[in-house]
Amino acid sequence: MLDEPIIQALITEVSGAKRYRHIDAAIVEQVCREEAQKRNKPKEAAKAAKRRLHQMTGAYCDKHIALSFAPDEMAALCAAHASTKERLPFAGEMFADIRQQVGGMERVADLACGVNPVLYVAECLRANLPLPRFYAAYDIRHDVLEQVRACFDHFGMDGTTGVCDLLTDCPDVAADVTLLFKIVPLLERQQKGRFEQVIAQANSPFVAVTFPTRSLGGKNVGMAPQYRRFFAAYLQRAGHRLVFEKEYPNELLFLIEKEEA
Ligand SMILES: C[S@@+](CC[C@H](N)C(=O)[O-])C[C@H]1O[C@@H](n2cnc3c(N)ncnc32)[C@H](O)[C@@H]1O
Repeated sequence: MLDEPIIQALITEVSGAKRYRHIDAAIVEQVCREEAQKRNKPKEAAKAAKRRLHQMTGAYCDKHIALSFAPDEMAALCAAHASTKERLPFAGEMFADIRQQVGGMERVADLACGVNPVLYVAECLRANLPLPRFYAAYDIRHDVLEQVRACFDHFGMDGTTGVCDLLTDCPDVAADVTLLFKIVPLLERQQKGRFEQVIAQANSPFVAVTFPTRSLGGKNVGMAPQYRRFFAAYLQRAGHRLVFEKEYPNELLFLIEKEEA
């Protein structure tokens, strides 16, 4: 365990790093403190904290582009973030599947959202569908949330954005469906079983959970069968009903209806 002045220096170093400056300061501090507690050497603690923060966010959205809301620009913004870039080719199909099963997506809660809310809005506009009546978007990166906020404002949407670390918190926002896209593997790496509490606390009858089926490099390394087994075991434990499952070119969707709904 390191002394407090050394921990303070560690927090200053990590939060000042270009790569992590967009992550909410309280989360950076918490990660630094947790890693400092496990180690005696400041350098090792700094390395471990940076590795964790990179796993949480850095690997997925390193690049940023200026925001505009013409269709091409919205697509470019989504293409600058790995998760939405991979979804671009089939996003319309995936959102239509969820909408059909849920019976409308008027109120959406999007947790660990990245820029997916921008993609959802772009797809609604492309398909000539009304925008959601309410969209709540949460992440731990301020830059992402600013982009989403700007999108909501531009289209005059009733939307809310906020910082929420799903490892410790879950927003209580009533919605038709809660989206948990590609975040469960990240949470599992940090805290086993945490996603079960997040789903339990989600204030919506339906929860849409997705998993990547290819590595970031695009390789098929048998992730789909592994996540199918993982999620089937969870569903058996939790007792939720699987209403829809589909594998898209690089993403596996499970739509569940919560037991208490
Ligand atoms: C793999 S991306 C998925 C983004 C989006 N859900 C999608 O599929 O397009 C992971 C996102 O989760 C956010 N994130 C990582 N750890 C988080 C946590 N503990 N709580 C909330 N958001 C987190 C990251 O900042 C990043 O935007």
